Amino acid sequence: MSQDNKNIQDQNINLVHMDIRLIKSGAQYAYDLLDEYGNVVLEAYQEFTEILKKHLLSENIRFLYYNPAIKKPREGKGFVHDHVVSAKLQGEVIENAKEIFDFIRENLKSSSTQLLSKSRVDASRRLVSRVLEEIADRKDAVFNPLMKLKSLDEYDYLHSTNVSVLGALLARKLDFSKDVQVAMGMGGLFHDIGKTSIAKDILAKAKLSDEEFDIVKEHPHVGYKLVENNPHFMELEKRIVLLHHERSDGNGYPFGFDMDHMMQKTPREVRLMSLCDVYSALVSERPYGRTFSSFEALRLMLNMVYAPYKTNHHFLPTDFRDFIRALGMSLNEGNFFLKPGDLVRLETGEVAVIEEMNRLYPLNPRVRIITGKDRQPLKRQVQVDLLKDYRSYISNVFEKQPEVK
Ligand SMILES: [Fe+2]
Ligand SMILES: [Fe+2]
Repeated sequence: MSQDNKNIQDQNINLVHMDIRLIKSGAQYAYDLLDEYGNVVLEAYQEFTEILKKHLLSENIRFLYYNPAIKKPREGKGFVHDHVVSAKLQGEVIENAKEIFDFIRENLKSSSTQLLSKSRVDASRRLVSRVLEEIADRKDAVFNPLMKLKSLDEYDYLHSTNVSVLGALLARKLDFSKDVQVAMGMGGLFHDIGKTSIAKDILAKAKLSDEEFDIVKEHPHVGYKLVENNPHFMELEKRIVLLHHERSDGNGYPFGFDMDHMMQKTPREVRLMSLCDVYSALVSERPYGRTFSSFEALRLMLNMVYAPYKTNHHFLPTDFRDFIRALGMSLNEGNFFLKPGDLVRLETGEVAVIEEMNRLYPLNPRVRIITGKDRQPLKRQVQVDLLKDYRSYISNVFEKQPEVK
């Protein structure tokens, strides 16, 4: 999170402060809770959890603040969409993930035989097929990720389940073949299997040393070794395990592929799974970093695609568009992650204000252009429909809040 080093206590706002150690877990407030730099740590009506408390204290944050003048209405509460997968099946997928992760963690060093037996892989495949059947039956359902952890140990099981369901949902919405739909669900389930080689205290840390981060970066390779010669996995599933942390700006790992490699040699399905992985991580409670709402996570990801002042894209724009077009409405409880009034930059470099959203193409709304390609304000602002009159997409949304890295 970027900090402009302006301590909010020094500003002329009457803020109330709260000692974190005294906040009970499960507490909810009608106010956004801020850290001392004014970054929102917990949105209004989100539950304060034990894990968040531990995380903040480990970062030496002792107080949170709120502005009593800005009470948030409890909007949208009580309107709950069905999740794309029933709670029962979701529970079975988590149990299965737990069993596999725990078994491998215990036997990784002691055994040289194949740790992922045919029966384990087949059982996972059957679960993914059932996930796909439920997705097909629940057309208007939305993806509500499992977010709250009972303990930090649970993170990998819940995360794998989230990425699996999201990958399967995305594959289905994009009309991929049945085999690919299953492979993306399976890839999601197993993508982080290499994390079983990492000590649990490292996985639970909020901040990693360089050496610890190097260990974490090995998980795609370790995972790949577990599936590489296993005939019960499809090639695409193996690729997802190995390549889900590659990024098109060259900043990924383990290989640090460049843009050309990502476009030409990395399967599109693998790149789409990386988006599912990042989205699932952002909206979940995790040891590191705060939990984002779906609305915030999607805006953040858009700004990652077109990181300001960078020539290369963190994710390929075409992949992000596919992801948004296919899932946009299923992720944010049927709401857009952009809204009228948002200030946005277009791919052409022009800056515009959104006037009206397009339900099918969220990145092509009707806008009013206010600055030209030369970044100078236009004398006469122009209204255009980005879908019809003007082939350009939104590349960034300007946030009024402090920017989040
Ligand atoms: Fe990973
Ligand atoms: Fe992951």
